Amino acid sequence: MYNIALIPGDGIGPEVIEEGVKVLESACHVHNIGINWHKYPFGSEYYLQKGVLLPDSALSELREMDAIYFGAIGDPKIKPGILESEILLKMRFALDQYINLRPVKLYPGISGPLKYKDSSDIDFYVVRENTEDFYIGIGGHFKDSRYQEKHFLKRGLYQMDIQLDFQLPEQEETGYQLGILTRKGSERIIKYAFDFAQKKNLSKVSTVDKANVLSGMYHLWRDIFKDTAAHYPDIKTDYYYIDAMTMFFVSQPEKFEVIVSPNMFGDIITDLGATIQGGIGMAAGANINPEGVSMFEPIHGSAPDLKGKYVANPVGTILAGAMMMEHLGEQDVALSIDQAVETVLRYGRVRTVDIGGNSSTKAVGSEIVKQLI
Ligand code: NAI
Ligand code: MG
Repeated sequence: MYNIALIPGDGIGPEVIEEGVKVLESACHVHNIGINWHKYPFGSEYYLQKGVLLPDSALSELREMDAIYFGAIGDPKIKPGILESEILLKMRFALDQYINLRPVKLYPGISGPLKYKDSSDIDFYVVRENTEDFYIGIGGHFKDSRYQEKHFLKRGLYQMDIQLDFQLPEQEETGYQLGILTRKGSERIIKYAFDFAQKKNLSKVSTVDKANVLSGMYHLWRDIFKDTAAHYPDIKTDYYYIDAMTMFFVSQPEKFEVIVSPNMFGDIITDLGATIQGGIGMAAGANINPEGVSMFEPIHGSAPDLKGKYVANPVGTILAGAMMMEHLGEQDVALSIDQAVETVLRYGRVRTVDIGGNSSTKAVGSEIVKQLI
């Protein structure tokens, strides 16, 4: 019996999560595994009604769960950034989910935008550092003359407005953002990438940085990568600068097996990865803390344009559910879900609009349930 927190969230979040839960329940039932869902209402509606985002009491409860299954958050009614930083980022940071694991896999039967590549060429993992780099929130925008009376100071996840009572000259406007990499933060993610490659029987780990120009932080990263690689003599390594790597994602994605990346470059290449695997509706991600509680989600947002239409692709969410079961040690369940998804996509009769079909979100979920073995 697993205790799993369920946060459907906003927009299409609840629609895709419903299918994810349906598939997980069927797959677990076959393997005699029970799931005790603990549903949380966090997201835009709850915030508008109660003014509550993610209370500390809920965070304490989340810490006791076996995993968190998350839909998406974000609503046009709410200023961008509030829900994202106070729910999603708060959860990632507070629970120290320092690994963002993103499989990039083009399933047979899905035609991605790379017309000379098929499912044998696009099948790798990105291991993205999830807590450091430029995402620590140390930055500010000072003396912005467009907001005459306001002077913004950003610290951590919180924003502080300070009233000024004098006019600001335009030339003095300043913006800055600091990125940091720590030895501890880099060592743990790079080691995870090598251990992950070993566990999956993969033969190569690639690293990406910009050590040629942003040498301060990324030299440290590169040194730690080299030192770590020395402990894994059976695993090959290679090095890329971020600009070159984006080129190879398009021209030679078959080069990659496991990529380990600092946070910001990981953010960029995982979106590119989602595109070459057939679009944002296909992609799943995990935010992992191997010593704590991890969170599993589709990588897309709340897609307000699709809300209530039941046409969103639930595959990313369903695959995130499979990743969750694998993380919990239930390999058989994970594999059965992955195979059912593969069968449905290969067959191609039931699929959503974004990947060339006309089936509903629910029809795709039901078809995947039917294929579970
Ligand atoms: P989005 O991912 O919601 O949508 C981007 C585009 O992809 C839209 O055209 C949408 O219709 C389409 N799309 C997304 N998911 C799909 C699916 N499952 N099937 C078919 N098509 C799909 O990103 P957008 O529009 O930039 O952001 C919308 C809201 O979501 C914003 O409030 C944003 O802050 C939030 N967001 C939340 C995330 C999260 O909760 N993890 C991640 C990204 C954005
Ligand atoms: Mg992104």
